[in-house]
Amino acid sequence: MPITNGVGEGELTPLKINHLAKIFGMHLAVTQAVLNKNPYFQQQYRYIDLTAGKGTSPTGLQGSPLVFIKQAESDKFKKAYRADLIEKNNKNLRELRNKIHDLAHNNHWQVTNKTHFHLGSYEQTIPNILTRVNRKELGLAFVDPSGNTPDFDTLQYIAENRPRMEILIYLSTTNLKREYQYTNKLLSDYMASLDKGHWLIRKPISWDSHKWTFLLASNSDIFKDYKSIDFLQLESDEAQGIFPKLNLSKKQRMKKLQPSLFKF
Ligand SMILES: C[S@@+](CC[C@H](N)C(=O)[O-])C[C@H]1O[C@@H](n2cnc3c(N)ncnc32)[C@H](O)[C@@H]1O
Repeated sequence: MPITNGVGEGELTPLKINHLAKIFGMHLAVTQAVLNKNPYFQQQYRYIDLTAGKGTSPTGLQGSPLVFIKQAESDKFKKAYRADLIEKNNKNLRELRNKIHDLAHNNHWQVTNKTHFHLGSYEQTIPNILTRVNRKELGLAFVDPSGNTPDFDTLQYIAENRPRMEILIYLSTTNLKREYQYTNKLLSDYMASLDKGHWLIRKPISWDSHKWTFLLASNSDIFKDYKSIDFLQLESDEAQGIFPKLNLSKKQRMKKLQPSLFKF
């Protein structure tokens, strides 16, 4: 996949953006319903994009911040929202600002007070924008670090400081398996580190050798299977059928099944 300024585009990018729009739409709808029932919660949805990018892919597909803003500005979502967009590359951040400005201008949306841009790494920025625990804030934090393993310490920090916020991760499970020899950590170890009780996993595309997937971590079981995009609850039979292959290499799976053959 060719990468420019940390933003790449491959055969799967259109599908990723399509699924992302659906996941954002589903998450906004479910969260809106929860907020409507619970005036006790902060009535403003918080979106945090840890790796915001430059607004579009090299061929002009809209990136996650624009996809989110379009969903949040749609007539279906009637709550206030705040989007924090973090990007470590200054040029990318400038482009992102311009693209959001154009999108808002063309649609007559007022987004200036709703969008907050942060130049820097998410590892350093997150503790500065989430300074203390808030159990009343709902929303979504999304990380999409171009094939690198996300910094799970930062995700853990978010999980601890915003227990009612979901965490959405886009990653290549193949890349994670390749790194096992250096990290000694499986996908399941990383997931366990967030201590979230409920997960949804998007079934990777069969021909995709990188096995890209979306993972949604929540403390609530309110998010059900989203069948049309193969986004499944981890405990479902279908997800349990695919997860071992995403988590373990063939050798690791064999070792589990036939430990006696691997004594020496
Ligand atoms: C895959 S691209 C962005 C994708 C974006 N979600 C989209 O849909 O357009 C990843 C972006 O994250 C930025 N990035 C990578 N690591 C980062 C980090 N640790 N902190 C902040 N930004 C980071 C890169 O500069 C790049 O612009």
